[in-house]
Amino acid sequence: MKNIIVLVSGGGTNLQALIDKQEQGEIKNGKISCVISSNPNAYALQRAEQHGIKTHVLPRKNFENNHAYSLALLDMLKQEQADLIVLAGFMIILDKILIQAYENKIINVHPALIPAFCGDGFYGLHVHEKALEKGVKLTGATVHFVNEICDGGAIILQKAVAIQKGDTPEILQKRVMEQAEWQILPQAVSLFCEERLEIENNHVWII
Ligand code: GAR
Repeated sequence: MKNIIVLVSGGGTNLQALIDKQEQGEIKNGKISCVISSNPNAYALQRAEQHGIKTHVLPRKNFENNHAYSLALLDMLKQEQADLIVLAGFMIILDKILIQAYENKIINVHPALIPAFCGDGFYGLHVHEKALEKGVKLTGATVHFVNEICDGGAIILQKAVAIQKGDTPEILQKRVMEQAEWQILPQAVSLFCEERLEIENNHVWII
């Protein structure tokens, strides 16, 4: 059974999707053993507590920079014996020291079809604002491994969502979450835990 550690900063609807799928037996060979939040007020913490999952708070504001923060986080992840780290609305760019320590063991969910609308500065609602501004017909979500390039790691799963007339960033965000993120994140987590992901030259094959 792999220890899954989920990192959060906000509302935690993706965490909730993982918890729900876990309770339905759809996360095979893995268990959410702990949730770590960069934000003491994140509602995600309450979601974890309501389901008896251990939580830690590691506030970003207590650290001078992302490097110092990542060192402290690395310590915590080692103590918790993380096998898989899931960034579920985690709003801090991790330092390479942590990424190298957990190479191909950190996955992130991004609310767009990478390589569109991604990279530095593209997070949360802003991603959907940019998609609507551009007038694309399709957007969606991507689950990918984390490497040292922001949103640049090997893609595990993607799901497209159509833009509709009258969409606002908020409406689109909700549809992308419901139709894409909440489905492909738990799927990718289960595939990882079942050791069904093969990585070859920045490509991921499902075996
Ligand atoms: C989600 O849409 C997630 O994809 C996005 O933030 C939201 C968090 O919601 N993440 C990023 O933009 C990372 N670049 P949640 O806290 O309800 O899961």
